[in-house]
Amino acid sequence: MADKKSFYVTTPIYYPSGDLHIGHTYTTVAADTLTRYKKLQGYDAYMLTGTDEHGQKIQQKAEEAGITPQEYVDDVVSRIKDLWKLMNINYDQFIRTTDPEHEKTIQRIFKKLYDQGDIYKGKYEGWYCTPCESFWTESQLVDGCCPDCGRPVEKASEEAYFFKMSKYADRLLEYIESHPDFIQPESRKNEMINNFIKPGLQDLCVSRTSFDWGVPVTFDTKHVVYVWIDALPNYISALGYLNDKPQLMDKYWPADLHLVGKDIIRFHTIYWPIILMALDLPLPKKVYGHGWILLKGGKMSKSVGNVVDPVELVDKYGVDPLRYHVLREMTFGSDGVYNEDLLVSHINSDLANDLGNLLSRTTAMTVKYFGGTLPETQQAGDYDDELIQTAHKAVTEYADFMDKLDFSRALESVWKLIGRANKYIDETQPWVLGKDAGQKDRLARVMYNLTESLRIIAVLISPAMPDTGKRVADEIKVPQAQRTWESIQKFGGYPAGVTVKRCKPLFPRIDVKKVAVETAAPVKKQKQQKKEEKPAGVITIDDFAKVQMKVARVLSCEKHPDADKLLVFQLDFGNEKRQIISGIAKYYQPEELVGKKVIACTNLKPVMLRGLESNGMILSAISGKQLRVLTVDGGDMPEGADVG
Ligand code: ME8
Ligand code: MG
Repeated sequence: MADKKSFYVTTPIYYPSGDLHIGHTYTTVAADTLTRYKKLQGYDAYMLTGTDEHGQKIQQKAEEAGITPQEYVDDVVSRIKDLWKLMNINYDQFIRTTDPEHEKTIQRIFKKLYDQGDIYKGKYEGWYCTPCESFWTESQLVDGCCPDCGRPVEKASEEAYFFKMSKYADRLLEYIESHPDFIQPESRKNEMINNFIKPGLQDLCVSRTSFDWGVPVTFDTKHVVYVWIDALPNYISALGYLNDKPQLMDKYWPADLHLVGKDIIRFHTIYWPIILMALDLPLPKKVYGHGWILLKGGKMSKSVGNVVDPVELVDKYGVDPLRYHVLREMTFGSDGVYNEDLLVSHINSDLANDLGNLLSRTTAMTVKYFGGTLPETQQAGDYDDELIQTAHKAVTEYADFMDKLDFSRALESVWKLIGRANKYIDETQPWVLGKDAGQKDRLARVMYNLTESLRIIAVLISPAMPDTGKRVADEIKVPQAQRTWESIQKFGGYPAGVTVKRCKPLFPRIDVKKVAVETAAPVKKQKQQKKEEKPAGVITIDDFAKVQMKVARVLSCEKHPDADKLLVFQLDFGNEKRQIISGIAKYYQPEELVGKKVIACTNLKPVMLRGLESNGMILSAISGKQLRVLTVDGGDMPEGADVG
């Protein structure tokens, strides 16, 4: 027998810097659904997920908690594994970047790239915050200060290793252009080419000396391998690359699909292929960048405090409804807005009504009219052909959309069949046929067609909702051999003579009034937002409107008593006065700005800077060594006027 065709799917490896939210759940459910679908089709499919455990942030979190970094990650990772179990994620391997095998592979990759001249030693320049021991780039600074603690930073440099990205830029561009499927969706591909590759690639910093929670560089042990060159090769270290058991590598590399969020598509379509080229390995066949699950107009994030916890949702609604909802609601590739109302409406209408009722009506009538056992019959009638055609179409359309990773439309195809089958009940009116003894054969045929439709539906929904697919098939007692992908290519595989019973409702309806509905926005508006493609880095007018800016007059300006770089401003906003501290002492004498009308952001969270509160931010233009505060051009603009 020929070997099965392999199919290798990966999710990103997640940072265990806190509990995961529904955004991470979405990627993992999508990968799991695709893998189950491929397995159903007979592929030797292999799904990898895992965790990205090194780095300064993890080290800091562990210190704050008073435990070792290893203890810290072990704890979070065990909760992540519990979450995947809860979500019924059937991964084939879970990789941790703290696995000794992974570390060995990374060290060997690093050495190989160094030996062949792709990695060299240089200097990393940036802004350094001593108390936080962190390097920041110019653009990460907040008001010239450390974005984490608000304290002033120093220009500093540290020894570091760099990867020569630019050497491979032409080859990468050629590869991307000659492999139209490599970056999906298409819009992301153009963004990568025009915004990143064409303007020129900078060498990538691949080691650090300022912290030590990482993989040590074997030949220069004060360095640890930094971020991407530790994280990205997880996809091959999991397969034993440059390690003791490389047989998985032969079987599964190159990957068929890396599923990633749009924020990390750049790393997967630029850095990763370049690393692979340098290692002389084939590139993955496809990198798919999906959108984000947004919440009330913004990305879910721990720091904003608007995280949706999947464990709570599963407790409240069950696993399959949540899996169905994220796959059905998100147009794959675009952002979607999470809304609990929509989740509830999916449960009540699609799951409880459409699917649940089809199953309970079909089994109840089979019991009522045939004692649960359908006889053999060939009695065809009106509406049969249309139902059978719809079933065929559902199978083909479903496969087409699954192959394109359009989970939403794949499920929609199944629901077209569910809708058609429910309509078939109304059209054939089994309760009328049941009153006429001469119609017994016809009635048996109607019930058979409904049961057979349910068999096909059960198989099609099983990748997205494994428990529900199995439950439907179990209720109508489908033999194992008729639960395969092969078996649903033809209508009529359900055997006669099987006895079914009445069944409990598949999904209990949710009492809408009882559910504390968190997002009150009308459904229509949410649907519109869902359709808008937002390339990474682009914000909507709503995002922009969140930043409140006003004109203010400088009442006074003094040097900060405790920090050379800071100036302390008292500002008049018309109906209120505020103190704002700005790291611009290098560019202005304190008295220079008094009386000027400046522009300040007024809804920033206040911070303490060296013992004084700063309540907002004064805007300025920065270029190289120059900095100028933005002022209002002439006119008599009053203090407090809105800017926007
Ligand atoms: O980036 N909606 O890890 P991570 C949809 N360790 N997806 C979301 C999301 C949201 N609201 N929030 C996050 C990392 N994600 C690296 C990856 S891979 C070699 C290294 C997605 O835990 C995000 O887009 O910060 C990303 O794909 C994934 O979660 C992991 O994010
Ligand atoms: Mg991230």
